[in-house]
Amino acid sequence: MPTSSGKALKLIVTGGAGYVGSVCAARLLEAGHEVVVVDDLSTGHADAVPEGARLVEGDAADATAATLRKGAFDGVLHFAAKSLVGESMQDPGKYWRGNVFTAIRLLDAMREHGAPRLVFSSTAATYGEPEKSPIPETAPTRPTNTYGATKLAIDHAITSYANAHGLAAVSLRYFNVAGAYGRYGERHATETHLIPIVLQVATGDRAQVQIYGDDYPTEDRTAIRDYIHVTDLADAHLLALGRAKPGEHLIYNLGNGTGFSVRQVIETCREVTGHAIPAVVAPRRAGDPAILVAASDKAREELGWKPERADLHGIVTDAWRFTRELTARQP
Ligand code: UFG
Repeated sequence: MPTSSGKALKLIVTGGAGYVGSVCAARLLEAGHEVVVVDDLSTGHADAVPEGARLVEGDAADATAATLRKGAFDGVLHFAAKSLVGESMQDPGKYWRGNVFTAIRLLDAMREHGAPRLVFSSTAATYGEPEKSPIPETAPTRPTNTYGATKLAIDHAITSYANAHGLAAVSLRYFNVAGAYGRYGERHATETHLIPIVLQVATGDRAQVQIYGDDYPTEDRTAIRDYIHVTDLADAHLLALGRAKPGEHLIYNLGNGTGFSVRQVIETCREVTGHAIPAVVAPRRAGDPAILVAASDKAREELGWKPERADLHGIVTDAWRFTRELTARQP
């Protein structure tokens, strides 16, 4: 388990009742930090907030401001966001208000109350269709969907606040997060992600998985993604807290650097679950790039980050265990 700066920090985790936020909150607590979770529970679950973290229910900016007003904090990890790519194209206002406007109000609250550090959940979607693969942080940022555009806009705002006001900021650009950690895992009311959908076929909650497009310029004609275990992702947040410097905005890609096609993911899920998992080919999903694979050398070199669960079989095994436990808990 990596530690951050060595000293226990007092932190606010927005979105700490969600998938990635809850895993990060759990790992921060294990590393000895003090955690207050701010979450409006619009997509998160109160029972996903780890024991030992206090939950403040409310808007990521307003409730964080109110919490900062009551006590000094060392920093904020900002996970809370709208994150459905398809929805972002149909209802862009929800994303510009919900992601960008909220983030600006959060930055202002941090400035007003003197919270010195920010770790922000950015995304590979900021790059859009890449010119080369794997994608380095220096690649052009031309998002192909509103979700990615809002995350990129926030990254720009963070740079300005770091330059002008001395904020110590790190943006982490996640590739495809998967897997689970103990009782913390992916459970969205509207599930759009490949691995949980495929596993829902294995549990019998879905009849089949649709393969969105088999006309991509890849070996098996399906799209390729870089799957990263949620605990490896969480560990990068702890390292980022230790690396953040006043007046600097650092940006790191987080992925394993290996791509798996949709068909390879489905096949791995078949191996792990022992279920047949019927799959049918459907049209491409709008805005999906063919290949998204991360160059994460910068995170490895500067943060000392080393993914420990890069194996797709292991990632799916953890997600499958979580899915079965969740299914068993449901009435
Ligand atoms: N896919 C299917 N069938 C499904 C679901 C997904 O074929 O039922 C395909 C998608 O078309 C894509 C791949 O599986 O090619 C992965 O799709 P996900 O929805 O799991 O993930 P995305 O790559 O679309 O997006 C994820 C996050 C985004 C983030 C992006 C960055 O959801 O927030 O990774 O890489 F921006």
